[in-house]
Amino acid sequence: MQGFLHDTWLSRQKDEWLTPPEIIRALGPFDLDPCAPVKRPWDTARHHFTIKDNGLIQPWSGRVWLNPPYGRHTPLWLSRIKRHGNGIALIFARTETKMFFRHIWTDADGILFLKDRISFFHADGTCGGHAGAPLCLVAYGDGNVEALRNSEIAGVLVTNNRDGLKISYSRSRREVSHESSC
Ligand SMILES: C[S@@+](CC[C@H](N)C(=O)[O-])C[C@H]1O[C@@H](n2cnc3c(N)ncnc32)[C@H](O)[C@@H]1O
Repeated sequence: MQGFLHDTWLSRQKDEWLTPPEIIRALGPFDLDPCAPVKRPWDTARHHFTIKDNGLIQPWSGRVWLNPPYGRHTPLWLSRIKRHGNGIALIFARTETKMFFRHIWTDADGILFLKDRISFFHADGTCGGHAGAPLCLVAYGDGNVEALRNSEIAGVLVTNNRDGLKISYSRSRREVSHESSC
């Protein structure tokens, strides 16, 4: 079973690194996944856009789940969910990058830095191996911060109250068994 080392490697190989379903279950339900596989082993939201639709140019509505394709277009997806203002994104915790400063540190309402290296799945539902870099869940909208807080996914939650001064930290109480199925 082949794991992956980092997101550059990841984007060169393929885009189909699926979120462990227990993460979706812990945070959902979602109204829209704007970047889903054409053939998917499970639903991640009520509605899905695929590469055939180009989710970036479609209208987004409701609560969005975003695990974006990795590569040079990733910032466009983050910009889009930020403007949409209602959803949660799963991305690598590359906290020093331009994208992180432009769309996350400044504008996200909450960030849950995951304690564990989760395992992604292939589009056929088989295990794709551990992520080789730390990951975080980024919330836009207060309801989605609450979803992170209540998910009990292990990690450290940083919330931004938008006065630019206060950041609060809290720890999840117990771990969601997101390594069990892979
Ligand atoms: C990292 S995977 C995430 C899949 C799924 N959203 C999940 O969370 O399990 C990214 C997905 O985006 C799809 N994709 C790539 N470019 C896209 C585009 N322009 N519009 C919609 N989907 C796209 C890929 O086919 C792939 O299934």
